[in-house]
Amino acid sequence: MHLTRLALTDFRSYADLSLELGPGVTTFSGPNGEGKTNLVEAIGYLATLGSHRVATDTPLVRKGAERAVLRAAVTGVNGSTLIEIELNPGRANRVRLNRAPRPRPRDILGALRTVLFAPEDLVLVKGDPGERRRFLDDLLVATAPRYAGVRADYDRVLRQRTALLKSAGGKAHLRGPARESITATLDAWDAQLARTGAPLLAGRIRLAAALRPHVEAAYEAVSGGPAGEASGMSYRSSAFNNEEGFEDTAAVETAHLEDAMLKALDGVRASELDRGVCLVGPHRDELELSIGGLPARGYASHGESWSLALALRLASFTLLRQGHEDPVLILDDVFAELDAGRRDRLAGLVAGAEQVLVTAAVPADVPDALAGARFEVQAGVISRAG
Ligand SMILES: Nc1ncnc2c1ncn2[C@@H]1O[C@H](COP(=O)(O)OP(=O)(O)OP(=O)(O)O)[C@@H](O)[C@H]1O
Ligand SMILES: [Mg+2]
Repeated sequence: MHLTRLALTDFRSYADLSLELGPGVTTFSGPNGEGKTNLVEAIGYLATLGSHRVATDTPLVRKGAERAVLRAAVTGVNGSTLIEIELNPGRANRVRLNRAPRPRPRDILGALRTVLFAPEDLVLVKGDPGERRRFLDDLLVATAPRYAGVRADYDRVLRQRTALLKSAGGKAHLRGPARESITATLDAWDAQLARTGAPLLAGRIRLAAALRPHVEAAYEAVSGGPAGEASGMSYRSSAFNNEEGFEDTAAVETAHLEDAMLKALDGVRASELDRGVCLVGPHRDELELSIGGLPARGYASHGESWSLALALRLASFTLLRQGHEDPVLILDDVFAELDAGRRDRLAGLVAGAEQVLVTAAVPADVPDALAGARFEVQAGVISRAG
């Protein structure tokens, strides 16, 4: 699929922008702070209903304005689709698909599919496990939008069970009927947590297994390095004591995972009550990344971390396009950080994608192989260059 039009009203630094886009490569260049990332952030939002930079909508609305409107026309195998989002910080956002209002914003997920790589992605390698869990979950939703509901269900149960643990924590000394009542309530929440957590866990384990060979290949392709420096990736669940990670995805069955979660929850009940936190479940899991056999977090160099983060996104792209039309590939500021060899290899990897949107402060950093439409971004105005 590809974007044919993007229109922004009061989004970030853009008061009013309307842009025609075509398939192939398009490069946006311009000095720092002129609105390049704002542009690709808007496109990412239209695809995922979230920003890759901020967790709330308030900073996305232009200073002094009350709301922002994002519109995109997308052309793909299903013809053309118009996506519209009205951002109302502090109130409900409104979305329309082909001019028809949709009651739930997440109904538009899937209408535009993107893979966005940005400097912020360095946290995928260097940041907390939560960053990598979010990466997996976002990709899961991109592969199958129904996972948005699976994730929401799990988060709701997790919040409620955690609240219960906190309030029950102070009552660990109770005996008799009062104790039995707490135990019975917790049992019920354990069952809920396992029931909603198992499908999320299954999805993540399968996804990690499907992604791994692509990450390894993309890392090797970008780094061009010797085999000893290969990247590795494995999913480690808090519900299993599995030293090897999950090699055998055929063994991953939701019912089996639900049982495993229940058993693990049973084993940590006392410490959960002690600490008032939920110790087992997808929210405690880790996607372990390594380079040359060493944990990437804490060991990898800046360039290696950058290349691995990029490999995670390129692998996502490869996975999402399998059996489907291409997502839109967005590379924000990627070339400045790479040496000449890595730049050229990356250009070769992405040149065949249906639509690639590239930003760069210095146009010369973008390899010539990625010739295409060129725009200049200056003070919120986007004009054709060359
Ligand atoms: N809500 C907002 N209202 C008005 N201006 C904003 C808003 N949010 C961000 N900006 C402005 O947008 C600019 C940042 O734009 P952006 O991040 O797109 O820059 P960039 O072109 O990607 O720069 P760089 O090359 O440094 O990455 C900043 O000057 C910032 O002040
Ligand atoms: Mg930027």
